[in-house]
Amino acid sequence: MNNFIFENKTKTIFGKGCVKGYLPCFLKNYEKNIMLAYGGGSIKKNGIYDEITAILRDCGKIVTEFSGIMPNPTYSKVLEGAELAKENDIDLIIAVGGGSVMDCCKAVSLAAKYDGDVWDDFWAKPGIIGFEPVPLCVVVTASGTGSEMNGGAVITNEELKIKTGRDYPKCNPVLALLDPTYTYSVPKRQMVSGAFDTLSHIMEIYFSEPDEPNVSDDIAESLMRGVIRDLRTAVKDPEDYTARSNLMWEATMAENRVIKLGKKTDFECHMMEHQLGAYTNCNHGEGLAVLHPEYYRHICIAGKNKFARFAVNVWGISPEEKNELQLAEEGVEALADFIKEVGLPTTLREIGVTESTDLKAIADSCVCVPNSYKVMTAEEILEIFKACY
Ligand code: NZQ
Ligand code: ZN
Repeated sequence: MNNFIFENKTKTIFGKGCVKGYLPCFLKNYEKNIMLAYGGGSIKKNGIYDEITAILRDCGKIVTEFSGIMPNPTYSKVLEGAELAKENDIDLIIAVGGGSVMDCCKAVSLAAKYDGDVWDDFWAKPGIIGFEPVPLCVVVTASGTGSEMNGGAVITNEELKIKTGRDYPKCNPVLALLDPTYTYSVPKRQMVSGAFDTLSHIMEIYFSEPDEPNVSDDIAESLMRGVIRDLRTAVKDPEDYTARSNLMWEATMAENRVIKLGKKTDFECHMMEHQLGAYTNCNHGEGLAVLHPEYYRHICIAGKNKFARFAVNVWGISPEEKNELQLAEEGVEALADFIKEVGLPTTLREIGVTESTDLKAIADSCVCVPNSYKVMTAEEILEIFKACY
């Protein structure tokens, strides 16, 4: 194993009934002014809003609502939330939703305590947070991103057409409440997209050096097999508690830094998807599903040893009478088949890219990360986009 430092300050409470069971006690640690943040209104339809507002009322809190956080949250929405938090002297933010609500609230928690421009100082480039953000509690209603147990926040600057994420330990939620039954009302398409996002995170970490045996890769293989198994079950029966609870925890495990320990990590596919999102507002997990097979066909030869291991250990492909490259390629095609099997899109056209989309501008704006098996160029990214169109 390479050297590492591990820290994760998020207390995580998992299971059916955890919000009712633990939120009242947690709220005793905070003063009266609470911001209740959520998205486009799903929590009002599935009863989660009523459950949480009743708890806040019983605890005597003064609630400021911050609603309408959109998928792929924008910088202007962050500024709106920060203004509201400052005006109401907010003591604690409770973010109720999926990755978009959680990410937006992490940025709000910083912006509410900062007089400068948080985009310029913390998202355009990595910054140093020398102050305490507003404490954040998250209640997950859609699993996949793993945002609940890290400091990552992906924000879209609409004006600049840049979607970018930073992971600041100071932005880790203080408390994450994970009730798998809260995710039952997520539309099937989003459930599949979220689970694929989880698989993507694990692959982006796994397909990077070191390649000699290490604990992080061992856990990653087990998690990938789990996501594949549990997503297959959940597609057939979205209310299978075992599958949905596993998917929820697999999502958290993929992004709570544990499987990144000692690893370089790739995340080039995320860089490509984020910029596609900045230009087209496409769904994150679906964008990844379109890009991954083509990206891996492109880099497979450079990382053939690891892709061959992926074929055998994750997809159960027999290595007999195959050379390493053949095996590696079969692993990538098994991934592509799985994407089709669970009903994810396979072309950019299906996720909103049209003939008038400026793919070259998108490719030119993508970050080319240094740790991939093959460091990409803007020209290669454009080729991948064209092949996926
Ligand atoms: O807004 P509402 O009405 O709540 O509807 C949402 C939204 O339309 C709906 N939804 C959520 N919970 C529901 C529900 N509908 C019914 N019942 C429920 N219980 O689901 C839709 C999508 O929600 P969203 O939060 O956008 O999805 P997701 O969790 O996939 O988050 C995507 C965002 O997270 C970023 C992505 O880039 C994207 O902006 N990511 C964040 C990461 C992180 N912080 O670590 C890592 C990821 O790689 C990712 O980039
Ligand atoms: Zn992701």
